[in-house]
Amino acid sequence: MSGPNSSYDPVQVTPLGEEEVFAMRDAALAAIAAASDLDELKRVRSEHAGDRSPLALANREIGALPPAARKETGARVGQARGAVNQALAVRQAELEAEAEERMLVDETVDVTLPWDRTPRGARHPITTMSERIADIFVAMGWEVAEGPLVEAEWLNFDALNLGPDHPARTMQDTFWTEPAENHVVLRTHTSPVQARTMLTREPPIYVVCPGRVFRTDEYDATHSPMFHQVEGLVVDEGITMAHLKGSLDHFAQAIFGEGITTRFRPSYFPFTEPSAEVDLVCFVCRGSGLVDEATCRTCRGEGWIEWGGCGVVNPRVLVACGVDAERYTGFAFGMGIDRTLMFRHGVEDLRSFFEGDVRFSRAFGTEI
Ligand code: DAH
Repeated sequence: MSGPNSSYDPVQVTPLGEEEVFAMRDAALAAIAAASDLDELKRVRSEHAGDRSPLALANREIGALPPAARKETGARVGQARGAVNQALAVRQAELEAEAEERMLVDETVDVTLPWDRTPRGARHPITTMSERIADIFVAMGWEVAEGPLVEAEWLNFDALNLGPDHPARTMQDTFWTEPAENHVVLRTHTSPVQARTMLTREPPIYVVCPGRVFRTDEYDATHSPMFHQVEGLVVDEGITMAHLKGSLDHFAQAIFGEGITTRFRPSYFPFTEPSAEVDLVCFVCRGSGLVDEATCRTCRGEGWIEWGGCGVVNPRVLVACGVDAERYTGFAFGMGIDRTLMFRHGVEDLRSFFEGDVRFSRAFGTEI
């Protein structure tokens, strides 16, 4: 189709006839319309509008035509190329819009889907309660003291005036370790931390000791062989039961709310004299014993709930732990942390704390 045309040759201009040019144009337009994506359109563009496309080649032929044929043929080819270029531009815009649309759909991010497949854990409610209790006392200037879970028999019992014949020393309550002649137990209460503190520090002593304790109890809704206590110990000059009462009333109100104070009932503990059981004003009926004119189920109409034990530190304990009992007096108390948490949150089964079901602990929030 190429080659200089020095003379008019009707055979050579045939491809530039109207039909030919229209055929080229229509083939191009059809290919453009059929191009279904930008890559295909790119191929169509080079095939039908590129340097080596039929219309480009036809355009090149124009110069070789005799002047008489140039104008008409030029206009025809020019129009055909214009139509093809316009169709290309339109299709290009369409396909780009389509591609963008598709990308928006394909890459849509559903922001409502759950994003956190490994939800953040939280510390155990007993841990947070232990710390909350410790904080109440730290805020009053007390210190936190800790002791080992595996404890010397002497510290767990003897130092606390629990003589060898005391029933708490029988196999019934205590986990003994072997060999027995080592006299080592799993501590049955947090009270040995009192003895450890007095043995290692000089008064004034103001300590709170939260921790884990062990007893050979059945595992049921209100008992567990492992549970938690918090011990308090004050040893200073001029300490009386009134200081004990004031401290426990503050403790109770800090945990259960204003007005939930305590009362003492006479009791016996070898390590305190006098000793008392501590009761809380029932936080459900607030001491009235009635809820909607019916007997309060939480305190069974008593208006009070048992919380723990306390008393004035027995001078025999002070002496056993190297404290000058002439100069100093003290008070001590011990409460169940698990029990406190059960009251505060209406937990009915103690075992819920130990079975690791997140559906239970989740309700306590994600305090960390
Ligand atoms: N240690 C006692 C117990 O486990 C609780 C207790 C009662 C602790 C009276 C005390 C106290 O410090 O004064 O049952």
